[in-house]
Amino acid sequence: MHIFDFKNRTAVVTGGAQGFGLDVAKRFLESGAKVFIWDIDEKLLKSAVDEVKHPNLFYSVVDVSNYQDVEKNVADIISKSNIDILINNAGITGPTGPLWEYDVEMWNKIVQINLMGTFNCCRAIVPNMIKNNYGRIVNVASVAGKDGNANASAYSSGKAGAIGLTKALGKELADKDIAVNAVTPAGAKTRILDQMSKEHVQRMLSKVPRGRFLEIHEFTSLVCWLSSQENTFSTAAVFDISGGRSTY
Ligand SMILES: NC(=O)c1ccc[n+]([C@@H]2O[C@H](COP(=O)([O-])OP(=O)(O)OC[C@H]3O[C@@H](n4cnc5c(N)ncnc54)[C@H](O)[C@@H]3O)[C@@H](O)[C@H]2O)c1
Repeated sequence: MHIFDFKNRTAVVTGGAQGFGLDVAKRFLESGAKVFIWDIDEKLLKSAVDEVKHPNLFYSVVDVSNYQDVEKNVADIISKSNIDILINNAGITGPTGPLWEYDVEMWNKIVQINLMGTFNCCRAIVPNMIKNNYGRIVNVASVAGKDGNANASAYSSGKAGAIGLTKALGKELADKDIAVNAVTPAGAKTRILDQMSKEHVQRMLSKVPRGRFLEIHEFTSLVCWLSSQENTFSTAAVFDISGGRSTY
């Protein structure tokens, strides 16, 4: 396993109470970073912090779709330290179903979390990164945002939006030592799969040439490299981690 150097770095990982986000947080901690995990689920946050038991792990209940909530929590952190790394990982798929029957409020909520959540965190944190001329942002999108998954129109749209945001913001910041990239994972066995029907998950898996789910640690490796100081050139880019599904 590669050793990453995140000494003296402070990271915010949204949706960090479980799944991909918590695994990234653990690897950041092992590599020397101070890590703030944000999540909407307080119970899960507490059990994550109890499990990891690390002096450099902090948590806050934050709804990323609420700008005021995000802004307040950013202000709390930057009153003490800079934010060097932002992993926009919080997301929901919502239930599966055809667009023309989809609950309008739920459709809106899915886009609010996946797209506006990413915007809100970037909007609040990027000024601090500009001030320090340093930052690494990774937006966790999905193959759904590239390919468009049938019966997941809100999720696909939210993730496609996050990809567009990555390309635009990466270019806006390209003259600084700030990298903004997106990753597009295929299915991995986290709790998010429970939100979709079994048939939908099986259909997703059947499209992956590797013929298996993505392992969480495989996702974390890619995110860690993109978040590291070694990534000095790649920005505004979309890094595929779909086991051969989305080869473009
Ligand atoms: N697991 C997969 O198959 C897969 C594939 C592609 C992309 N992704 C993306 O990876 C990211 C992480 O998902 P995961 O698989 O670890 O799922 P997960 O459900 O285990 O974790 C997502 C976390 O986000 C939190 N969250 C939801 N809404 C929030 C909000 N408004 N504010 C703050 N936190 C909120 C949840 O409480 C949860 O802890 C998501 O963006 C997801 O869309 C996952």
